[in-house]
Amino acid sequence: MTETPDLFGPVKLGALNLPNRIVMAPMTRSRAPGNLPNALMAEYYGQRASAGLIVTEGTAPAPNGRGYIDIPGIYSDAQIEGWRAVADAVHAKGGRIFAQIMHVGRISLPEFQDGADLVAPSAVAAAGQMYTPSGMKPLATPRALTEAEIETLIEAYAQAARNAIAAGLDGIEIHGANGYLPNQFLAPNANQRTDKWGGSAENRARFLVAITDAAAAAIGADRVGVRISPGNPFNDIDDPDVEDTYTPVIQGLSGKGLAYLHFLDAKPAFDVIGLARKHFGGPIILNAGYDKARAQADLASGRADLIAFGSSYISNPDLVERLKQDAPLNAPDQGTFYGGDAKGYTDYPALAA
Ligand SMILES: Cc1cc2nc3c(=O)[nH]c(=O)nc-3n(C[C@H](O)[C@H](O)[C@H](O)COP(=O)(O)O)c2cc1C
Repeated sequence: MTETPDLFGPVKLGALNLPNRIVMAPMTRSRAPGNLPNALMAEYYGQRASAGLIVTEGTAPAPNGRGYIDIPGIYSDAQIEGWRAVADAVHAKGGRIFAQIMHVGRISLPEFQDGADLVAPSAVAAAGQMYTPSGMKPLATPRALTEAEIETLIEAYAQAARNAIAAGLDGIEIHGANGYLPNQFLAPNANQRTDKWGGSAENRARFLVAITDAAAAAIGADRVGVRISPGNPFNDIDDPDVEDTYTPVIQGLSGKGLAYLHFLDAKPAFDVIGLARKHFGGPIILNAGYDKARAQADLASGRADLIAFGSSYISNPDLVERLKQDAPLNAPDQGTFYGGDAKGYTDYPALAA
């Protein structure tokens, strides 16, 4: 008889041994002016160190990967030093932390690029708007990446992974979800290329698999996780055949000893979790809309190995303890999700000692 995995019990995740199966989901908080991780961020992540694993907010691997206001990067020496303080704060409290590597591609504006071109698989703008200091603006039309630039970007992901380790972080998560650059390559409406990076599902999967392989070669597969969101239309993703698209993605990420596969599983269009269970060969993290009961049910059924919590982690630094005790949760304040200071960031109370 196999034992039911305990949400509050240990689990091995790639190179790491976690004390519990609770993951803090990656969340952009736009509190990194100058794209630099800072002391306030170190305090925030340190407060959440009892998570089995923290995944940081989306972090740009290259200057042209920036979108949104005040998001951090991981391509300069100063950024590495900033991340070192974050890693130290989490480790000092006994935690573990992966950096989420996010290249936004076409989900950006020229003003976030310091004069460089906005780049994406194809010159197709996404429908949508972005907040800027001078108000909301429609997303801009990107320029199509050249094949040489794609190779440069793949190396940028590998270097971002090396930089994460240099900063003392425990590994990285490749952001392949939510309509950002790797997801743009996957989606037929955003990727209209006719070279080996577009067209067939295998070709569209090539970029996500290539950046994952490059990062794994740089720091070890057991310190690299990947997040995907099959069927999620967020950020103007339109994919008429999710099964066709994600079958080569799962195959391309399987059997390589990656730390985990993380699903934003809001609208599963086919049994992609089952497909991953069959082929991937490592831990599966599921996310979106979980509470304790549903988390335990998905662990018990074998659907998930770990559960990631998003907005409840914004407002509950001691989420593990609260879930364990069935204590009430603080409600998150959406008005302070993005930007600002300590308010709505580091001032949510833990349970009284
Ligand atoms: C403020 C905020 C910022 C987010 N930023 C990111 C991000 O940078 N990267 C990412 O993969 N998901 C991001 N997400 C999505 C979360 O990781 C998570 O999928 C979502 O909140 C659903 O989980 P929940 O129902 O537990 O909140 C963000 C969500 C929120 C609320």
